[in-house]
Amino acid sequence: MKYRTIGTDPKTRREVSVLALGTMHFGTATDEATSFAILDRYAAAGGTFIDTSGNYAFWAGTQGGESEELLGRWRRSRGIGEEIVIATKVGARPLAPGTSFVGNAEGLSATVIRESAARSRDRLGVPRLDLLYAHIEDPKVPLAQTVEAFAALVAEGSVGLLGVSNHWAWRVEQARALAAAAGLPGYEVLQYQHSYLRPRTDLPGSLSPDGRQGLLGGDLLSYLRAHRQLTMVGYSPLLKGGYTRQDKLAAPEFAEYAHPGTPARLAALREVAKDAGATVNQVVLAWLIGGDIPIIPLAGASTVTQLDESLAAVDLELTAEQRTMLDAAW
Ligand SMILES: NC(=O)c1ccc[n+]([C@@H]2O[C@H](COP(=O)([O-])OP(=O)(O)OC[C@H]3O[C@@H](n4cnc5c(N)ncnc54)[C@H](OP(=O)(O)O)[C@@H]3O)[C@@H](O)[C@H]2O)c1
Repeated sequence: MKYRTIGTDPKTRREVSVLALGTMHFGTATDEATSFAILDRYAAAGGTFIDTSGNYAFWAGTQGGESEELLGRWRRSRGIGEEIVIATKVGARPLAPGTSFVGNAEGLSATVIRESAARSRDRLGVPRLDLLYAHIEDPKVPLAQTVEAFAALVAEGSVGLLGVSNHWAWRVEQARALAAAAGLPGYEVLQYQHSYLRPRTDLPGSLSPDGRQGLLGGDLLSYLRAHRQLTMVGYSPLLKGGYTRQDKLAAPEFAEYAHPGTPARLAALREVAKDAGATVNQVVLAWLIGGDIPIIPLAGASTVTQLDESLAAVDLELTAEQRTMLDAAW
């Protein structure tokens, strides 16, 4: 395994593996025995960066919490302590079971942030959340209230690092600037959907007519280039299995990838995979990890075999020629 540091403050920064593990289906679609086997394998391979959320998996008909609860049981049964960083999120819990967060999310008020963080700590069985993300934007709450509420949790020691997901770049900068001006800790880890295939960014999203805030685009990439101390975590790097299963790529949730650039990109990927003696998924993960702006891929797995394939990508070093071929394809 390889490692990198997230965060800058010596009191809260952490060393994490360059491959993160997503657990959004653990405890619901992925049963407990399988989830534990995947977690055990990840930890045995040196993986130390696990991702969950207080609202996983609300789509199973609840308000979420199953993933965190399972992680809490796994931590306790394995005696896991500080060595593994578990990141969780607040803000996108639906207000009632059986509903979605669209127009109906708990949001990012001071009260919600405090209560939701406390629930996450209880479920995970930890005194302090290692990393807490704002999951989605809450345009109804003044940004200063959100910034101050997160900072208060850091000050009292119940949260370590702060992160942000699915926010427009300008809102991230605004929140960070507010925090900096007030001498408060701000978001240091960003989590956005990112993979090798380029998505269209002109399609309306479910939360904004201007597009989907969750896609990593030029605004955020340039922000990261200018702020190298920030960390980008890329979710759904394997496009939920879409690189090897075309039916998945054809699903409506991946409409952003249905454009003429995709076949050229897929062809380059296959050629590099053949040249490198690796799988297409591994080339995608290695491309993200070793890029000019390094990304921590946040991959999911529903079997140990899938995880093993992803873990092997950490040791795959793409050559300059292979990387050029991948970058140039469009
Ligand atoms: N911040 C956010 O809003 C946000 C949004 C989405 C996800 N996330 C986080 O990101 C994590 C990962 O998301 P994701 O599940 O969409 O990521 P992903 O890595 O793109 O997809 C994982 C899925 O891909 C398939 N897969 C994995 N390895 C494979 C292999 N070797 N061969 C074929 N198929 C393979 C499996 O699907 P099957 O199980 O169908 O086989 C697996 O469940 C989540 O658990 C969550 O923690 C965050």
